[in-house]
Amino acid sequence: MNAGFNLGRTGKGQKTLHLVLEHELSELRLLMERQAGVLLNCPQEVFGAKVSAYLQSRRLSSVADLIGRLQTSDAECERLLEQILDGETGFFRHPVAFEVFEKEILPELRVRKAGEGTQSLRILSAGCSTGEEAYSIGLAVCEAMKEAAGSWTIHILASDVRQDALTFAERGLYPHAALAALPRPLVQNYFAKLDQHFLAKPRLRNLITFTQMNLVRPAYLGRFDCIFCMDVLPHFSSAQRVALAQRLHLYLEPGGYLLLGDGEKLPAADVTFQSESHQSFTLYRKPFAAAARAAKF
Ligand SMILES: C[S@@+](CC[C@H](N)C(=O)[O-])C[C@H]1O[C@@H](n2cnc3c(N)ncnc32)[C@H](O)[C@@H]1O
Repeated sequence: MNAGFNLGRTGKGQKTLHLVLEHELSELRLLMERQAGVLLNCPQEVFGAKVSAYLQSRRLSSVADLIGRLQTSDAECERLLEQILDGETGFFRHPVAFEVFEKEILPELRVRKAGEGTQSLRILSAGCSTGEEAYSIGLAVCEAMKEAAGSWTIHILASDVRQDALTFAERGLYPHAALAALPRPLVQNYFAKLDQHFLAKPRLRNLITFTQMNLVRPAYLGRFDCIFCMDVLPHFSSAQRVALAQRLHLYLEPGGYLLLGDGEKLPAADVTFQSESHQSFTLYRKPFAAAARAAKF
C-alpha cells in the first residue's frame, strides 16, 4: 500500500483517506476511546495519514483488520497509541509555570515541610512523554535544594501511556539541540557530554522513576506535593477530564500544587481547588482541610 495521503472519493461519493475511509476513522476513534480511554482528537487528515502509515508498518490490509486486532489485543492498542498520540515536549516547555515552580512553589514547600520535620518531596510528572519535563523538574529541584543537598529525599515519578517514550526517557540521553536554550552551567553540572548528545548525570537521573500508566485508569500512587500534568487534558473527553481532575485531587497532599500547561484550565468538578493566575498560566492548589470548607471554585 502507498503511504501517501490523498483525500479522494469512492464511487459512492464517500471521502477516502488513501485506503482509509472516514467512517472507519470515526469507528477507530470510538474504539480507542472505549478501550483505552484515550481521545484521538487530531485533525482527520493527520489521523488518516497516521493510521495509513500504521497499517503499512504493521502490514495490515485494512482498518477492519486493525479494528479486529484492537478488540482482542492490548499490545496492538499500545502500539497504535505510540504512533498516534502527540508527544510534543521540551525542557522547561512552559516557562511561566516553571518560573512559578522555582520562585513560589519550591520555596514554600521547602520552608513548610522543613517546619513539619519532613524533609522529603514527592512530585508527579503525569504524561511526561520523552522525559524532558521530568528532567526539568529535577533540575529545578536540584538547584533549589543545592545548599540542603543530602538532607532532603526527593522523588519524581514520571509516567506516560506510551512505553516507547518512556524507554527513551529512561536513557536520559538528549541531542545538543534539545538543551540548547538551557544555561550552560546547568548543562555542565547535570549532564555529561557524549558525542553529539548529553547524558543526564546520576545525581539528576536517580531522582526520577519512569513508569507506564494510563491516566484514565485509577492507580494507587500515594500522595504528591506537586503534580505536573501539562498538555495532557486535550487527550481526554469532557467526562474523562472531570474524572481526571478528581483523581489528581486525590493524588495531592493537602496544600499540594497542580500545574497544567499554559492556557489550560481544569473543568468544574466536585472537588475543591484554589486557583491563582499568572498571565495565561493557572496554578491550582488543593486546600488544607480547613480552607476546603470555605473556598469552592
Ligand atoms: C503533548 S505531550 C506533553 C508532554 C509534557 N507533559 C509536556 O508538556 O511537555 C502529551 C503526553 O500525554 C500523554 N498521554 C496522553 N494520554 C494519556 C493517558 N491517558 N495517560 C497517560 N499519558 C497520556 C501522551 O502520550 C504524550 O506523551
